[in-house]
Amino acid sequence: MTATKGLEGIVATTSSISSIIDGVLTYRGFDIDDLAENASFEEVAYLLWYGKLPTQSELDGLIKRLGENAAVPAGVIDQLKLYPKNTNSMAALRTAVSSLALYDESANDMSKEANIQKAIKLQAQIPTLIAAFARLREGKEPVAPKAGVSIATNFLYMLTGQEPDQVAVKALDQALVLHADHELNASTFAARVTVATLSDIYSGVTSAIGALKGPLHGGANEAVMVMLEEIGSFANVEPFINAKLANKEKIMGFGHRVYKNGDPRAKHLQKMSRELGKLTGNMELYEMSVKIEELVTGQKGLKPNVDFYSASVYTTLQIPRDLFTPIFAISRASGWTAHILEQYDNNRLIRPRAEYTGPVDQKVTPIAQR
Ligand code: ACO
Repeated sequence: MTATKGLEGIVATTSSISSIIDGVLTYRGFDIDDLAENASFEEVAYLLWYGKLPTQSELDGLIKRLGENAAVPAGVIDQLKLYPKNTNSMAALRTAVSSLALYDESANDMSKEANIQKAIKLQAQIPTLIAAFARLREGKEPVAPKAGVSIATNFLYMLTGQEPDQVAVKALDQALVLHADHELNASTFAARVTVATLSDIYSGVTSAIGALKGPLHGGANEAVMVMLEEIGSFANVEPFINAKLANKEKIMGFGHRVYKNGDPRAKHLQKMSRELGKLTGNMELYEMSVKIEELVTGQKGLKPNVDFYSASVYTTLQIPRDLFTPIFAISRASGWTAHILEQYDNNRLIRPRAEYTGPVDQKVTPIAQR
C-alpha cells in the first residue's frame, strides 16, 4: 500500500454535479463563464440541487421558500450573543450551524424530501447567521431577513440594516455564482465523508465549514486581504513580494491543486475588482493586486485562484475582512448540500487506508521501567 500525499490525482467518487475538465469548470454541464454572466445565484442553487435550470415559476418558488426559511431560531441568536467578543467568524459559523440542528425536529429524518427541505433551510439560514453574528459583536441587534428577495440582497440588507446598492448586489450575486460548487474540493469531500456514515446533513455542513476555514482553502480570501493590508501601498508591492518569494513563502490566493493554467473563476473576479474600483474611484487595491499577479506569475508561473481578486472585491463592497470566508460558505452551502444529497442517493461508507510508517514489533515495558 503506497499513500498519495494529499490524495492528489485520486478519483474518489463519481458525481454529476460539477466537473473540471481541461481547466474548464462546469456545473451540471453549464460552463461557469456562461453561468457567471447569465444566471443568478438562486438559479445556480436550483441547478445544483435539481439538475436543471429553473423555469420562472420554479425560481419564484425557490426564492419564496428561501425567504420563508431564512429566520433562525431565537435560541441560536441567544447563543451567538454569548460567544466571546473576539470569536473567529468561521468558528462562530461552524458552531452556529451545528446548533441549528438542535432546533430542527427533522434533523435526523433521512427521507429525500426532508433532506431537500433541510438543504434549502441551511442555504437560507447561513446568511442570516453571519449577518447576525457581525451585528451582535458590534453591539447592534440582528436585522430580520426579508421575504421575496435574493440571497445577495438579503445578506447585504441584514448586514447593514439598509437597502443595498444594486451594484453591490450584482457583484455579490456573481461572486456567489462563481463559488457555488467545485467538484471534490476539500470542504465538499469533508461533507461527503461525514454523511457517508449516514450522519445527518447538519453534521455534513458543519464538517465542511471546518474544512473551508483553513487558509489553504476558503480562508485564503481573508489571508489575501491581510497581505494587501500588510503591503499597504503600490510602491511596497515589489519589495514585499520579492522578499516573500525569496524566503520561499506562499503567496495567498495563488496556485491550485487542479488548475495549473489558471482558475477560470479568477478572471470574472478580476473584472469585478477593476469595475468596482473604477466606480468607487479607488483603484489602489486593484492595481496592487495586478502588480502582485505580474510578479508571482512572472517569477513562479503560479496563477491567481478564485480567492485572490475576491479580497479586493469584498473590501470595495465594504464587507469586513473576516466575513470573506463566511461569504464563501454562503455560496458553497449550495454545492455542499447538493453533494450531500447525491451521496445519500448512492451511498457507500468512505473509508480509505493509510500506509503505515510507524515503528513495528514494539513490546509494552512496565510503566516503572519506561
Ligand atoms: N505561493 C508560492 N508558492 C506556491 C504557492 C503559492 N501560493 N502555491 C504552491 N506553491 C509552490 C509550493 O511551494 C510547491 O513548491 P515546491 O515544489 O518547490 O515545494 C509547489 O508550488 C506545489 O505546491 P503544493 O502546496 O504542494 O500544491 P498543492 O496542490 O498541494 O496546493 C494550494 C494547492 C493549497 C492551493 C497551494 O497552491 C497554496 O497553498 N496556495 C495558497 C493558498 C490558497 O490560495 N488557497 C486557496 C485555493 S482555492 C480554494 O480552495 C478556494
